[in-house]
Amino acid sequence: MSDRFDDAYYRRFYGTDGAQDPERVGHLATAVHEMCSWWGVAITSVLDVGAGMGMWRDWYREHHPAVRVRSVDISEHACRTWGHERRDISRWRPSRQYDLVICHSVLQYLADDDAAAAIANLAAATGWVLYLEAPTAADLALRVDPARTDMDVHRRAGAWYRDLLDPHYLQAGAGLWVKHDTIPMYELEAPPA
Ligand SMILES: C[S@@+](CC[C@H](N)C(=O)[O-])C[C@H]1O[C@@H](n2cnc3c(N)ncnc32)[C@H](O)[C@@H]1O
Repeated sequence: MSDRFDDAYYRRFYGTDGAQDPERVGHLATAVHEMCSWWGVAITSVLDVGAGMGMWRDWYREHHPAVRVRSVDISEHACRTWGHERRDISRWRPSRQYDLVICHSVLQYLADDDAAAAIANLAAATGWVLYLEAPTAADLALRVDPARTDMDVHRRAGAWYRDLLDPHYLQAGAGLWVKHDTIPMYELEAPPA
């Protein structure tokens, strides 16, 4: 497993000039957790894939300590520093499901075949809801701040991701993907399947 994701990487993209910090991730985690509650899903287990500095895991520990959070990452540095299991999501499929699976800014680092395998593994691991963020080619060209974003990633169309996600999930919006045949959605709550 490569260690492109070393101390310098996390300092570069998660330091004071980085796009993410615990406060921003806290707003996101609150929203995701509460949307699940609104949908009637009481989150008891979470799998954070590509957990990095562990901001989601730390938010859960602080705000919902009874929730069991399993965090995994491919980076030896991240696992040693922030206490994750070392796993490559393109090759690892957990033996059980988690109510909420988080894959925040990870898939853009994987080559096509690996990203496709990773999506299948994420889907197998998802009990109810996946939170997914992966910048597409259009996002990288038009929407991200290149000074604060790692641009050395795979650029794929949104449709490329959707073709792999749609067999497993309904896209509810705002990064939330609901496993098919789990949460009934009102017609105007999510785009037509
Ligand atoms: C941009 S960081 C995102 C960290 C965290 N999810 C966040 O949003 O704060 C990307 C992370 O994905 C991890 N990663 C990359 N490829 C992976 C793979 N194949 N399996 C598991 N983790 C991976 C990296 O080690 C790195 O920690």
